[in-house]
Amino acid sequence: MLSTYQELETPDFDTWIISHDIVGKNFADGQISLTWHDGKISNFHYLWLREHCPCSLCHSDVTREQILDVLTLPNDLVPVSLELTENGYLVVIWSDGHHKSIYHPGWLRANSYDDWARQDQHHKKPTWDASFSLPIFEYEAVMEDDRSCYKWLSALDRYGLVMLKNVPTDLGTVGSVASRIGYVKSSNFGELFEVETKPDADSNAYLSVGLPLHTDLPTREIQPGLQFLHCLINDADGGESIFADTFHIAKVLEREQPSIYELITRLKFPFSNRADYRDYRFAAPLIELDRDGAPLEARVNTFLHAPITNMPHECVPKAYEARNALLKATLEDRFRLYHRLQAGEMVIFDNRRVLHARTEFFPNTGARKLQGCYMDRDELKSAIRMLERANRQRGEEPLSPYVSP
Ligand SMILES: [Fe+2]
Repeated sequence: MLSTYQELETPDFDTWIISHDIVGKNFADGQISLTWHDGKISNFHYLWLREHCPCSLCHSDVTREQILDVLTLPNDLVPVSLELTENGYLVVIWSDGHHKSIYHPGWLRANSYDDWARQDQHHKKPTWDASFSLPIFEYEAVMEDDRSCYKWLSALDRYGLVMLKNVPTDLGTVGSVASRIGYVKSSNFGELFEVETKPDADSNAYLSVGLPLHTDLPTREIQPGLQFLHCLINDADGGESIFADTFHIAKVLEREQPSIYELITRLKFPFSNRADYRDYRFAAPLIELDRDGAPLEARVNTFLHAPITNMPHECVPKAYEARNALLKATLEDRFRLYHRLQAGEMVIFDNRRVLHARTEFFPNTGARKLQGCYMDRDELKSAIRMLERANRQRGEEPLSPYVSP
């Protein structure tokens, strides 16, 4: 029997599939061990499980956020008994006032954190070079069909670069494509910005000069995660787009020039914008690594270099040598993917991973106009999870991510 206050099945809004039954249970040494019918074992620390009790005393029925004050849980908390219900839920009676918690087996399996489970969660992203075939998707399909949308978003997440084709060339369409994923990130260039030559340009992007491979807004503590660029007209001579995967370049540099790699991942290089109405500055490694030593983001932009004033004098020549080695690598054809955008095409890329460039164009030969916007990486992750969740709720076949041919 469920206790009267047990109204929630899980401490979230998700629907969890029960793919494996619990066939064994015991507790000792601070952990509850569950054996699943495929032989895998999940161990949960007492405080971990107790904190995530889904009952309405511990989690709000409305928000699903915790209302339990975890500091009220005694350090010597132990289970008094473990049981399985007829439908395979785990019931734990705890020593703190004999509180009763009922756990959904699908939720427990999905939230396991033993070595085998953590390895399952670890998706290493493939990196790419000049031979990469740009993942291309139909605008109408991704806007209307969730399975196509999932393929598109999974490609963007894995490879950091995708293209849509047959996109209507109306101003503002980039905003509706972005809303298919999440909230646009505004900046000093506005919510949506138009990339064309402007007499009062506040960025080299608004001149007709070529732009070397770069990330946008390296002057900010958090660079925009995603960038959308929708080609409305590209009739001018020149103006070809180039992309490069810095995670791949980093991997090659680590192997071929380890001392350079060490410097570009450690020294903080300063960037500043030059607009006369805003003054953004930030200094960070050109390739920033996460705590596991894997690339987290790149910060590359030769037209926004600020004077290096943040290093001891003796470091400066080394810093220049390392920075220029990375910049030279971005010029190597083995890393560069070329594509001349046509009207009705839209590229979406991870601005913190994939560099973009355009060659010089000649406005006297025809018009060139793009519209773009930014978004945080979180929006993409959230959209992917929401599609997976909706799919579980409909009880349909699991969604399959895009894999490059
Ligand atoms: Fe840019």
